[in-house]
Amino acid sequence: MASNEATIPTGTHAPEGTRRDFLYIATGTVAAVGAAAVLVPLIAQMNPDASTLAAGGPVDLDVSKIAPGQQVVVRWRERPIFVFHRTPETLKTLQDPKLLGLLSDPNSQQMQQPPYATNATRSSKPEFGILVGICTHLGCIPMFYPQPSATVPVSDWPGGYFCPCHGSKYDPAGRVFSGVPAPYNLPVPPYTFVSDTTVRIGENPSGSSWDFSSIRQL
Ligand code: FES
Repeated sequence: MASNEATIPTGTHAPEGTRRDFLYIATGTVAAVGAAAVLVPLIAQMNPDASTLAAGGPVDLDVSKIAPGQQVVVRWRERPIFVFHRTPETLKTLQDPKLLGLLSDPNSQQMQQPPYATNATRSSKPEFGILVGICTHLGCIPMFYPQPSATVPVSDWPGGYFCPCHGSKYDPAGRVFSGVPAPYNLPVPPYTFVSDTTVRIGENPSGSSWDFSSIRQL
């Protein structure tokens, strides 16, 4: 696995302007280093025609092609959606009391996810984490560091997401750490598994009418 260390842009600060402005700028920054970020490949969705994408309609993804420990990023409503195939070790980490004690909202009490993802893994299928990849501070795209590390990207890293813009940290379920600039967990978009191997992002499971616009902060 290639290290992401060299890809971290440092000293990136929010310019004057709106949060949306910053997201645009930060997205460009990440795109510039994206070629080296081998763990975050951008792959094509399954059969989304142009009109579907333009309308913000749901997007299907074949998750059988994502190896355990890997993540892909798809686009839904012009937002990056992280789809992470978690390993058994990662799932175990999510319940580690030491980790839970470091998190701001370990039980996902803030409305940052649909009801069917308000649980210990913030997902309806524990082995797949599905998150909107936008930092809840000022809108950068957090970087993916799935492996625990003593030093990278910061000391005592448990694995998860690190936002290089101002140092916010999220665990592998997108739960934000206490004491960082980001105030909320990463959002979870509406999604449903329409088969064992296909997830549909942008659509609730049958029987759920959760409104994505009700999310606390995107
Ligand atoms: S945008 Fe500031 S820490 Fe992520």
